[in-house]
Amino acid sequence: MMPSKTSAKSTLTPPAVFTAAVLGAVCFYCFYYGIIGAGIDELEAGRTDGPEFTGAIESLTLRWEYGMLHVNAVQQIESNVSVIVIHGADVKTQNAKHWNPNIGTFARIGSVYLVDLPGFGETTSNNRGVGPLVPSFAIRKLIREILSESPHQRLLFCARGWGSKVVMDVLRREESLREKTVGAILIAPFMKTDKIPEAAKSLKTLLIWAGKDPVVPSGYSSVLKGIFSNASLHVMSNLKSHMPETDRPLEFDSQVLQWLSIDS
Ligand SMILES: *[C@@H]1O[C@H](CO)[C@@H](O)[C@H](O)[C@H]1NC(C)=O
Ligand SMILES: *[C@@H]1O[C@H](CO)[C@@H](O)[C@H](O)[C@H]1NC(C)=O
Repeated sequence: MMPSKTSAKSTLTPPAVFTAAVLGAVCFYCFYYGIIGAGIDELEAGRTDGPEFTGAIESLTLRWEYGMLHVNAVQQIESNVSVIVIHGADVKTQNAKHWNPNIGTFARIGSVYLVDLPGFGETTSNNRGVGPLVPSFAIRKLIREILSESPHQRLLFCARGWGSKVVMDVLRREESLREKTVGAILIAPFMKTDKIPEAAKSLKTLLIWAGKDPVVPSGYSSVLKGIFSNASLHVMSNLKSHMPETDRPLEFDSQVLQWLSIDS
Protein backbone atom coordinates (compact mmCIF):
# COMPACT_ATOMS: atom_id res chain seq x y z
CA MET A 1 0.00 0.00 0.00
CA MET A 2 1.30 3.46 -0.87
CA PRO A 3 1.73 5.50 2.29
CA SER A 4 -0.10 8.78 2.25
CA LYS A 5 1.95 11.96 2.42
CA THR A 6 1.09 12.50 6.07
CA SER A 7 2.05 9.01 7.21
CA ALA A 8 5.33 9.24 5.29
CA LYS A 9 5.98 12.51 7.04
CA SER A 10 5.42 11.01 10.46
CA THR A 11 7.94 8.20 9.89
CA LEU A 12 10.71 10.27 8.33
CA THR A 13 10.85 13.99 9.01
CA PRO A 14 12.40 16.12 6.25
CA PRO A 15 15.67 16.67 8.18
CA ALA A 16 15.95 12.90 8.67
CA VAL A 17 15.40 12.32 4.96
CA PHE A 18 18.04 14.93 4.22
CA THR A 19 20.51 13.39 6.67
CA ALA A 20 19.89 9.93 5.23
CA ALA A 21 20.46 11.27 1.70
CA VAL A 22 23.73 12.94 2.72
CA LEU A 23 24.95 9.84 4.54
CA GLY A 24 23.97 7.74 1.53
CA ALA A 25 25.91 10.01 -0.80
CA VAL A 26 28.98 9.97 1.46
CA CYS A 27 28.91 6.16 1.71
CA PHE A 28 28.49 5.97 -2.06
CA TYR A 29 31.66 8.02 -2.55
CA CYS A 30 33.58 5.95 -0.01
CA PHE A 31 32.58 2.85 -1.89
CA TYR A 32 32.96 4.36 -5.32
CA TYR A 33 36.44 5.73 -4.81
CA GLY A 34 37.82 3.27 -2.30
CA ILE A 35 38.22 6.33 -0.18
CA ILE A 36 37.91 5.88 3.54
CA GLY A 37 36.94 9.35 4.62
CA ALA A 38 34.88 11.97 2.86
CA GLY A 39 33.22 15.19 3.87
CA ILE A 40 31.94 18.34 2.24
CA ASP A 41 33.80 21.58 2.91
CA GLU A 42 32.46 25.04 2.36
CA LEU A 43 34.68 27.13 0.13
CA GLU A 44 36.73 29.34 2.40
CA ALA A 45 34.99 32.64 2.93
CA GLY A 46 36.45 35.68 1.25
CA ARG A 47 37.89 34.00 -1.83
CA THR A 48 35.68 35.79 -4.33
CA ASP A 49 38.39 37.10 -6.61
CA GLY A 50 38.39 34.13 -9.00
CA PRO A 51 35.73 32.98 -11.43
CA GLU A 52 32.48 32.05 -9.77
CA PHE A 53 32.22 28.63 -8.18
CA THR A 54 29.06 27.64 -6.37
CA GLY A 55 29.55 23.86 -6.04
CA ALA A 56 30.76 21.92 -3.04
CA ILE A 57 34.34 20.91 -2.39
CA GLU A 58 34.64 17.41 -1.01
CA SER A 59 37.38 16.53 1.39
CA LEU A 60 38.62 13.01 0.54
CA THR A 61 41.02 10.86 2.50
CA LEU A 62 42.76 7.91 0.94
CA ARG A 63 44.93 5.46 2.81
CA TRP A 64 48.29 5.04 1.17
CA GLU A 65 51.47 3.16 1.99
CA TYR A 66 53.01 5.98 4.00
CA GLY A 67 49.99 7.50 5.72
CA MET A 68 46.82 9.34 4.75
CA LEU A 69 46.52 11.16 1.47
CA HIS A 70 44.18 14.14 1.56
CA VAL A 71 42.58 15.61 -1.54
CA ASN A 72 40.02 18.40 -2.03
CA ALA A 73 37.79 17.32 -4.88
CA VAL A 74 34.96 18.46 -7.08
CA GLN A 75 33.65 15.25 -8.62
CA GLN A 76 31.47 15.51 -11.68
CA ILE A 77 30.13 12.06 -12.49
CA GLU A 78 29.22 12.97 -16.07
CA SER A 79 32.69 14.31 -16.92
CA ASN A 80 35.40 12.23 -18.61
CA VAL A 81 38.28 14.54 -17.74
CA SER A 82 39.97 14.60 -14.34
CA VAL A 83 42.12 17.61 -13.53
CA ILE A 84 44.97 16.62 -11.22
CA VAL A 85 46.23 19.76 -9.50
CA ILE A 86 49.61 19.83 -7.77
CA HIS A 87 50.93 22.65 -5.62
CA GLY A 88 54.47 23.94 -5.15
CA ALA A 89 57.18 23.40 -2.56
CA ASP A 90 56.80 26.17 0.02
CA VAL A 91 55.36 24.48 3.12
CA LYS A 92 54.16 27.84 4.51
CA THR A 93 51.87 28.68 1.58
CA GLN A 94 51.36 25.51 -0.40
CA ASN A 95 48.60 22.93 -0.06
CA ALA A 96 45.32 22.04 -1.77
CA LYS A 97 43.64 25.22 -0.52
CA HIS A 98 46.15 27.36 -2.37
CA TRP A 99 44.01 26.82 -5.48
CA ASN A 100 40.67 28.00 -4.08
CA PRO A 101 40.57 31.09 -6.37
CA ASN A 102 41.06 28.78 -9.37
CA ILE A 103 38.47 26.11 -8.60
CA GLY A 104 35.84 27.78 -10.79
CA THR A 105 38.25 27.42 -13.73
CA PHE A 106 39.11 23.77 -13.09
CA ALA A 107 35.47 22.82 -12.55
CA ARG A 108 34.68 24.07 -16.07
CA ILE A 109 37.05 21.39 -17.39
CA GLY A 110 35.93 18.32 -15.45
CA SER A 111 36.34 16.60 -12.11
CA VAL A 112 38.97 18.30 -9.99
CA TYR A 113 41.46 16.74 -7.56
CA LEU A 114 43.48 19.24 -5.55
CA VAL A 115 46.15 17.26 -3.77
CA ASP A 116 47.90 17.89 -0.48
CA LEU A 117 51.33 16.46 -1.24
CA PRO A 118 52.96 14.30 1.48
CA GLY A 119 53.88 16.51 4.42
CA PHE A 120 51.70 19.41 3.21
CA GLY A 121 48.19 20.38 4.27
CA GLU A 122 46.37 17.40 5.74
CA THR A 123 48.33 14.62 4.03
CA THR A 124 50.41 12.62 6.44
CA SER A 125 53.48 10.69 5.45
CA ASN A 126 56.09 8.87 7.45
CA ASN A 127 58.35 9.07 4.41
CA ARG A 128 58.99 12.29 2.51
CA GLY A 129 61.86 10.75 0.61
CA VAL A 130 64.18 12.87 -1.47
CA GLY A 131 63.01 14.89 -4.46
CA PRO A 132 59.76 14.15 -6.27
CA LEU A 133 59.81 10.37 -5.68
CA VAL A 134 57.37 10.10 -2.76
CA PRO A 135 54.99 12.82 -4.01
CA SER A 136 54.87 11.15 -7.42
CA PHE A 137 54.08 7.85 -5.71
CA ALA A 138 51.15 9.54 -3.96
CA ILE A 139 49.86 11.08 -7.19
CA ARG A 140 50.09 7.74 -8.98
CA LYS A 141 48.13 6.14 -6.16
CA LEU A 142 45.36 8.73 -6.57
CA ILE A 143 45.30 8.31 -10.36
CA ARG A 144 45.09 4.52 -10.06
CA GLU A 145 42.13 4.98 -7.73
CA ILE A 146 40.39 7.31 -10.20
CA LEU A 147 41.09 5.06 -13.20
CA SER A 148 40.07 1.87 -11.45
CA GLU A 149 36.58 3.26 -11.02
CA SER A 150 36.39 5.14 -14.29
CA PRO A 151 38.89 3.64 -16.77
CA HIS A 152 38.03 6.01 -19.61
CA GLN A 153 38.91 9.14 -17.71
CA ARG A 154 41.37 11.45 -19.41
CA LEU A 155 43.88 13.34 -17.29
CA LEU A 156 44.83 16.97 -17.36
CA PHE A 157 47.65 17.99 -15.05
CA CYS A 158 48.00 21.42 -13.57
CA ALA A 159 51.12 22.01 -11.51
CA ARG A 160 52.99 25.00 -10.19
CA GLY A 161 56.69 25.49 -9.44
CA TRP A 162 58.20 22.36 -7.96
CA GLY A 163 54.95 20.44 -8.55
CA SER A 164 55.78 20.28 -12.26
CA LYS A 165 58.78 18.13 -11.36
CA VAL A 166 56.35 15.73 -9.74
CA VAL A 167 54.23 15.58 -12.91
CA MET A 168 57.32 14.76 -14.97
CA ASP A 169 58.26 12.02 -12.52
CA VAL A 170 54.74 10.55 -12.74
CA LEU A 171 54.90 10.44 -16.55
CA ARG A 172 58.41 9.01 -16.49
CA ARG A 173 57.55 6.16 -14.14
CA GLU A 174 54.12 5.34 -15.50
CA GLU A 175 54.44 5.49 -19.27
CA SER A 176 50.94 4.11 -19.81
CA LEU A 177 49.53 7.36 -18.42
CA ARG A 178 50.83 9.34 -21.37
CA GLU A 179 48.08 8.19 -23.71
CA LYS A 180 45.46 9.07 -21.09
CA THR A 181 46.87 12.57 -20.62
CA VAL A 182 45.30 15.32 -22.69
CA GLY A 183 47.56 18.11 -21.54
CA ALA A 184 49.49 19.90 -18.82
CA ILE A 185 49.30 23.41 -17.45
CA LEU A 186 52.66 24.27 -15.93
CA ILE A 187 52.88 27.46 -13.90
CA ALA A 188 56.36 28.89 -13.38
CA PRO A 189 57.65 25.30 -13.60
CA PHE A 190 60.82 24.52 -11.75
CA MET A 191 62.42 21.50 -13.36
CA LYS A 192 65.59 20.49 -15.07
CA THR A 193 65.30 19.83 -18.77
CA ASP A 194 67.01 16.44 -18.50
CA LYS A 195 64.24 15.30 -16.14
CA ILE A 196 61.56 15.79 -18.76
CA PRO A 197 60.66 12.36 -20.13
CA GLU A 198 60.55 11.87 -23.88
CA ALA A 199 56.85 11.01 -23.74
CA ALA A 200 55.99 14.33 -22.10
CA LYS A 201 57.65 16.43 -24.78
CA SER A 202 54.77 16.08 -27.20
CA LEU A 203 52.12 16.90 -24.58
CA LYS A 204 49.83 19.79 -25.28
CA THR A 205 51.28 22.20 -22.74
CA LEU A 206 50.32 25.62 -21.45
CA LEU A 207 53.15 27.51 -19.75
CA ILE A 208 52.04 30.37 -17.54
CA TRP A 209 54.41 32.83 -15.92
CA ALA A 210 54.45 36.20 -14.21
CA GLY A 211 56.71 38.51 -16.21
CA LYS A 212 58.74 39.36 -13.11
CA ASP A 213 58.83 36.02 -11.31
CA PRO A 214 61.41 36.42 -8.49
CA VAL A 215 61.89 32.64 -8.06
CA VAL A 216 61.93 31.07 -11.54
CA PRO A 217 62.66 33.79 -14.11
CA SER A 218 60.14 33.88 -16.95
CA GLY A 219 63.01 33.82 -19.45
CA TYR A 220 63.29 30.10 -18.69
CA SER A 221 60.11 29.67 -20.73
CA SER A 222 62.10 29.99 -23.96
CA VAL A 223 64.19 26.97 -22.92
CA LEU A 224 61.05 24.94 -22.20
CA LYS A 225 59.35 26.06 -25.40
CA GLY A 226 62.27 24.49 -27.23
CA ILE A 227 61.62 21.18 -25.47
CA PHE A 228 57.84 20.89 -25.45
CA SER A 229 56.90 20.70 -29.13
CA ASN A 230 53.25 21.63 -28.49
CA ALA A 231 53.60 24.41 -25.93
CA SER A 232 51.69 27.67 -25.65
CA LEU A 233 53.08 30.42 -23.45
CA HIS A 234 51.28 33.14 -21.58
CA VAL A 235 53.28 35.67 -19.59
CA MET A 236 51.38 38.01 -17.27
CA SER A 237 53.14 41.26 -17.90
CA ASN A 238 54.13 43.67 -15.14
CA LEU A 239 53.40 41.09 -12.47
CA LYS A 240 56.02 40.42 -9.84
CA SER A 241 54.95 37.10 -8.40
CA HIS A 242 55.71 33.41 -8.31
CA MET A 243 51.97 32.66 -8.11
CA PRO A 244 50.32 34.32 -11.10
CA GLU A 245 47.33 31.96 -10.97
CA THR A 246 46.15 33.24 -7.60
CA ASP A 247 47.31 36.83 -8.09
CA ARG A 248 45.36 37.14 -11.34
CA PRO A 249 42.81 34.31 -11.27
CA LEU A 250 40.61 35.87 -13.95
CA GLU A 251 43.49 36.20 -16.39
CA PHE A 252 44.49 32.61 -15.57
CA ASP A 253 40.88 31.56 -16.20
CA SER A 254 40.61 33.17 -19.62
CA GLN A 255 43.99 31.78 -20.74
CA VAL A 256 43.19 28.22 -19.66
CA LEU A 257 39.71 28.17 -21.18
CA GLN A 258 41.00 29.67 -24.41
CA TRP A 259 43.79 27.10 -24.60
CA LEU A 260 41.25 24.31 -24.17
CA SER A 261 38.78 25.96 -26.58
CA ILE A 262 36.13 26.16 -23.86
CA ASP A 263 33.74 29.10 -24.29
CA SER A 264 34.08 31.51 -21.39
C1 LIG B 1 34.39 13.01 -23.40
O1 LIG B 1 33.14 12.52 -23.81
C2 LIG B 1 32.55 13.25 -24.87
C3 LIG B 1 31.17 12.71 -25.10
O2 LIG B 1 31.13 11.32 -24.94
C4 LIG B 1 33.45 13.15 -26.10
O3 LIG B 1 32.90 13.89 -27.16
C5 LIG B 1 34.79 13.70 -25.76
O4 LIG B 1 35.68 13.54 -26.84
C6 LIG B 1 35.36 12.99 -24.55
N1 LIG B 1 36.60 13.66 -24.18
C7 LIG B 1 37.71 13.00 -23.96
C8 LIG B 1 38.87 13.84 -23.58
O5 LIG B 1 37.80 11.79 -24.05
C1 LIG C 1 48.88 19.79 -29.91
O1 LIG C 1 48.15 18.82 -29.17
C2 LIG C 1 46.78 18.76 -29.50
C3 LIG C 1 46.14 17.77 -28.56
O2 LIG C 1 46.83 16.57 -28.51
C4 LIG C 1 46.61 18.40 -30.96
O3 LIG C 1 45.25 18.38 -31.29
C5 LIG C 1 47.34 19.40 -31.81
O4 LIG C 1 47.27 19.01 -33.15
C6 LIG C 1 48.80 19.51 -31.37
N1 LIG C 1 49.45 20.55 -32.13
C7 LIG C 1 50.66 20.42 -32.62
C8 LIG C 1 51.21 21.60 -33.32
O5 LIG C 1 51.29 19.37 -32.51
